[in-house]
Amino acid sequence: MSAVRTGLVPLVLVACFAQAALAQPAPTTAGKRLFDARCGICHGRGGTGSFMLAKRLGQDKALLAERSDLSADYVKAIVRNGILSMPGLTRGELADTELEVIAAYLERPASERTARPVEAPK
Ligand code: HEC
Repeated sequence: MSAVRTGLVPLVLVACFAQAALAQPAPTTAGKRLFDARCGICHGRGGTGSFMLAKRLGQDKALLAERSDLSADYVKAIVRNGILSMPGLTRGELADTELEVIAAYLERPASERTARPVEAPK
């Protein structure tokens, strides 16, 4: 009688694949860092920006970093002009180059998370 044993090998293989899946680099860490530093005080969890957006637009729109509906142009316009209780930031307060990086960071999830297939040509 040959004893069939379930060895450790399959388990180890599964662990390796899981590891590979988790090892993907987080995109745009520079954008996240800048956003956290320059906007995070109001747009982090518990910030006034998050609070006001939750009130005005709903809880699912409260955290800018988790939204998938923001375009870079919209973000840039808001940051320069302000909106309601958010004061606009001048170029002296936030350089254009920094704003570009932040706007790209906030826009990024739209292409990645919005489960919308590429539009078919008409
Ligand atoms: C002093 C606090 C404060 C800072 C700093 C701040 N915001 Fe805001 N922001 C707000 C508030 C408050 C609102 C919500 C205004 C309202 O709806 O009443 C808001 C709204 C917004 C909106 C509008 C979202 C929408 O759906 O209409 C965007 C975009 C935004 N902020 C981006 C930024 C970015 C990017 C930064 C950093 C460069 C930033 N904000 C820094 C307070 C702040």
